[in-house]
Amino acid sequence: MSRPILPGKTIGILGGGQLGRMTALAARTLGYQVHALDPDPDCAARPVLDRLVTAPFDDVEAAVDLAKGCDVVTLEIETIAVAAIEAAARVAPVRPSAQILGMVQDRGVQKGWLAGNGFPVGPFREVGSAAELAAAAAAMGPACFIKACRGGYDGRGQGQLMDLAGAEGVWAQLGGDRAVVEAALDLEAELSVLVARTPSGKLAVYPPALNHHRDRILEWSLLPGPIPATVTGQAVQIALDLAVGLAIEGLLVVEMFLRRDGRLLVNELAPRPHNSYHASEVACATSQFEQAVRAACDLPLGSVEIVRPAAIVNLLGDLWMRDAPPPFEAALEIPGVRLHLYGKRVARPGRKMGHLSATGRTPEEALAAAKLAMARLGGRGPLPLPA
Ligand SMILES: Nc1ncnc2c1ncn2[C@@H]1O[C@H](COP(=O)(O)OP(=O)(O)O)[C@@H](O)[C@H]1O
Ligand SMILES: [Mg+2]
Repeated sequence: MSRPILPGKTIGILGGGQLGRMTALAARTLGYQVHALDPDPDCAARPVLDRLVTAPFDDVEAAVDLAKGCDVVTLEIETIAVAAIEAAARVAPVRPSAQILGMVQDRGVQKGWLAGNGFPVGPFREVGSAAELAAAAAAMGPACFIKACRGGYDGRGQGQLMDLAGAEGVWAQLGGDRAVVEAALDLEAELSVLVARTPSGKLAVYPPALNHHRDRILEWSLLPGPIPATVTGQAVQIALDLAVGLAIEGLLVVEMFLRRDGRLLVNELAPRPHNSYHASEVACATSQFEQAVRAACDLPLGSVEIVRPAAIVNLLGDLWMRDAPPPFEAALEIPGVRLHLYGKRVARPGRKMGHLSATGRTPEEALAAAKLAMARLGGRGPLPLPA
């Protein structure tokens, strides 16, 4: 039987990006020590850690070294080698498990698992060559999304096909030797559901978030998503079935597509905190990061009640690549708006550097405030003047 790991103990996090940083901050608030492992000595979590093990995510000895100093280990990224998690798990409990990670970290395996276990997914096919890609596109498309089985995120390791002629080119730029081809779906909306589950089986499920992507990267997210009650009911049920069926220890975020014909499909799984629930920090009685800590430590889970609707807008590196730094003071003038920066020193186009959050009386009001704050940062670029 699992016993709670109480404040004062040490939590290890595999990964030291922004999700690790925010989890570490929540853990520190609860009184835990925090160690992490990341290949980047200057990673986002570093300033808020008690110890950073600098090593690649497939370094088995380094993962064991991390675990030796910790009472429990969790993770913030899927690309940790299964062998490293298995080795760490012989030293300290690792939550979620290597088995779940192994299933999730390969898109082909994950899609096959979802479909095989009766969860609704869109048409897909796994391919291993440009010719197989062309054949899949001919059968399902031609408009398709092509996603490398391993390593992709934020639209990286992905391509889109509009016609069959592009298959060779898309295959070449994808990298890797296996990919999933998905029919491009006509989407009404994208949503996600966060479930927390403790090793002793306690569950907490958040209301669905409504998510908007641009160029395959999350642009804004709204909590609670203004979603019809029947869709919310279905989405929550799917997420609970997954969390319970997998007996996940920690967080599980289920990204979903709502097709224009009303059908709800599972897009992908993330067994960790997720960008689409950053609004939980200001919207909910318990943030996703505190919940991650409580779940990993087998503490009672916190209330998922919405205290006030909130929206977030992501701040990408592009904003830093202009002549002057973003005018944060102009965004912060708007009531209810807060700035969350991840402390990343190097900005790259598309890199997530931080987010703005805003609260409002309604989700729509929160989103309007967040978008207004974003516009003040110049996120839209200069308005074109008449010639
Ligand atoms: N089959 C599809 N049909 C329509 N849009 C899609 C499809 N697959 C992906 N997208 C768009 O691309 C985004 C990123 O794809 P996703 O598979 O979630 O990859 P990532 O791991 O980068 O989040 C989705 O949130 C959605 O906006
Ligand atoms: Mg996604």
